[in-house]
Amino acid sequence: MKPIRTGKLRVERLTIPFAKLPQRLHGLKIVQLSDLHYTNGQLSDRLLNQAIDIVNRNAPDIIVLTGDFIHDVPEPIDTLIPFLKRLHARHGIYAILGNHDIYFPKARHYVTRALARIGICVLWNQVVYPAGDGLALVGLADLWSGEFDPAPIFRDLDPDVPRIVLSHNPDTAETLRRWRCDLILSGHTHGGQLVLPFLGPLPKYLDFFRWIIPKPLYPYLPLLGKGNYVTQHWEWASGMFRLGRNRLYVNRGLGSYFPGRFGCPPEVTEFVAIAQPNAPQYGFD
Ligand SMILES: [Fe+2]
Repeated sequence: MKPIRTGKLRVERLTIPFAKLPQRLHGLKIVQLSDLHYTNGQLSDRLLNQAIDIVNRNAPDIIVLTGDFIHDVPEPIDTLIPFLKRLHARHGIYAILGNHDIYFPKARHYVTRALARIGICVLWNQVVYPAGDGLALVGLADLWSGEFDPAPIFRDLDPDVPRIVLSHNPDTAETLRRWRCDLILSGHTHGGQLVLPFLGPLPKYLDFFRWIIPKPLYPYLPLLGKGNYVTQHWEWASGMFRLGRNRLYVNRGLGSYFPGRFGCPPEVTEFVAIAQPNAPQYGFD
């Protein structure tokens, strides 16, 4: 199958101030990739290699992969693994799974095992400290898995410890407002894929499209056909958002649904953590 048209890869760079981040972690570099959908040409090998080269060139301390490695059946992960094996980060590579990684009953464990074989740690309602105890990395189960369960993790976390939270679906940011989440990293929306100047992501106008597009065409327009099923918050389709005292960043992803992308380039995101004693205190605990 011919690769989908996506436009040029774009690197987004953001500096994130953290309250109570130890000085030794000042300048820590975290790179995020999301939504590879490595199935049937939804992500070309060329774009994938380009993204991996950019990640490695940035010499990240931590790499985070925020789900949807595959699209449906799990076997394409075996072809994706040799590409991912090229990724390098000083403190390791951490992943969460997206809704597409768990559609098929055996997919969750198949994908987890394949990633583990090359040293990528898949988090499922777990917390790790890749750079030491001064910064927690929380990885949550996908919202639609029925196992999304942040409460026990946040109950046990030291409220003074800054944390980055990996959560595939940005809708979870609403629930996560109950806890301190200095930075939530999501994907899932693909930025809406079709983004018009002034209008923004087209799926925002789903009700209108449903009114004018005949239903038989829905299977060919997945983001439109699934409608609000994809997200309740198209206003958070991509970029940085403030939710109370928490921050949410939504990555546009690398892979794409048919018919491809317009005005919504695939993305590699680099975050630099800044220790800022007077940064706002986060959390509602
Ligand atoms: Fe996705």
